[in-house]
Amino acid sequence: MGEFSKGLEGVIAAETEMSFIDGQKGVLEYVGIPIGELATHSTFEETVFLLWNRRLPTSSELESFKGELRKRYALPSGLARRIPEIPTTAQPMHMLRTLISEMSLYDTHPNDNDPEQARRKAMNILGQAPTIVAQFDRCRRGLPVVEPDPSLGFSANFLYMLNGEKPTDAMTRAFDICMITHADHGLNNSTFTARVVISTLSDVYSALTAAVGSLRGPLHGGANEGVMKMLNEIPSVADAEAYVLGKLERKEKIMGFGHRVYKAKDPRAKELMALAKQLADDTGNTDLYEKSHAIERVMEREVAAKGIYPNVDFYSATTYHCIGLKLDLFTPMFALSRIGGWAGHVIEQLSDNRLFRPGAKYVGPHDQPYVPIAQR
Ligand code: SDX
Repeated sequence: MGEFSKGLEGVIAAETEMSFIDGQKGVLEYVGIPIGELATHSTFEETVFLLWNRRLPTSSELESFKGELRKRYALPSGLARRIPEIPTTAQPMHMLRTLISEMSLYDTHPNDNDPEQARRKAMNILGQAPTIVAQFDRCRRGLPVVEPDPSLGFSANFLYMLNGEKPTDAMTRAFDICMITHADHGLNNSTFTARVVISTLSDVYSALTAAVGSLRGPLHGGANEGVMKMLNEIPSVADAEAYVLGKLERKEKIMGFGHRVYKAKDPRAKELMALAKQLADDTGNTDLYEKSHAIERVMEREVAAKGIYPNVDFYSATTYHCIGLKLDLFTPMFALSRIGGWAGHVIEQLSDNRLFRPGAKYVGPHDQPYVPIAQR
């Protein structure tokens, strides 16, 4: 048995062909293609095809993949009926985790893990999760649900169901770039969670339900909501420096900064920073972007030497806000995208599986007597 490494820091626990990360250089590639290239030229559907098939699709393959996905936007009627029953005060990540789990009740073969069946389940969850989030948000706002429109792509359809009107091309593209940049990222905690669960030959629904539970955590996917709360707390750009210094002084973590792997600026943060600036200018939210930039400058001066830089969540907050998403939908957005990565890793784990079962270093006592309760 090897040495104990807290938080599995430095431990390699899987091999993958999906995403490559160089933490020192700030490089992220999906199947060898730099994330900046994909953010510029690709779409979310094409990116998911790339991750699941380890190559870019031909145009006819992409059309049939999109066609397959669009068939799965609509919810089974039993699941659709559940959404108005969910308390309007339920937190969206708890709702999403619950309903992804409930999707398994409407699958006639929930436990089948052969490649075809696993891929079918993955497509189901990828197609229906946006519908679940959008219809829950409409219900809690007292608005009529908007049925999915299979003539629309993944991002346009989600924004359409959420807002009840077709989104602009600019907003659709912005959302799609968010989906592309969040899709996969090596063995992050939620992806590792999904692989650990499927390694018992459990099922895709259980694996992705567990992954949503992991992603909600503020140290992981929940950070983008934490960033937005921080930006709302800072009265103006001029207050950013004092705010950050105060938090650092109190040893409080600045949300959207730091990373277990990146010791340079997260390449996704670079893509999302440019997008956030563009959207902030277009939507009259320049103060959000300016505050973010001011925070980044202070952090650069104070902690960059410790390898603490902006991560994917730092500028995604401003981007999601400018797209018009409510704060408590930010982490669900991360989940909608990461379902692509999680499903790819589940399929990869199933293709060459070994049960995950690490050891634990026992640090408790030995040779203890059983003391009868009357003598305790
Ligand atoms: C994501 O793994 C992935 O790939 C995740 C992700 C993905 O795509 O799946 O990239 C998405 O989850 C990004 C991370 C989002 N989380 C946050 O933004 C939350 C704030 N960040 C921190 O909690 C932290 O940076 C972590 C959790 C992300 C990483 O933590 P580590 O690797 O366990 O590092 P650590 O907490 O041990 O910190 C090391 C040092 C400490 O200082 P010292 O005690 O050594 O003096 O760095 C400091 C920390 O205090 N530090 C920070 C900081 N992050 C680390 N100080 C201030 N603000 C921060 N954000």
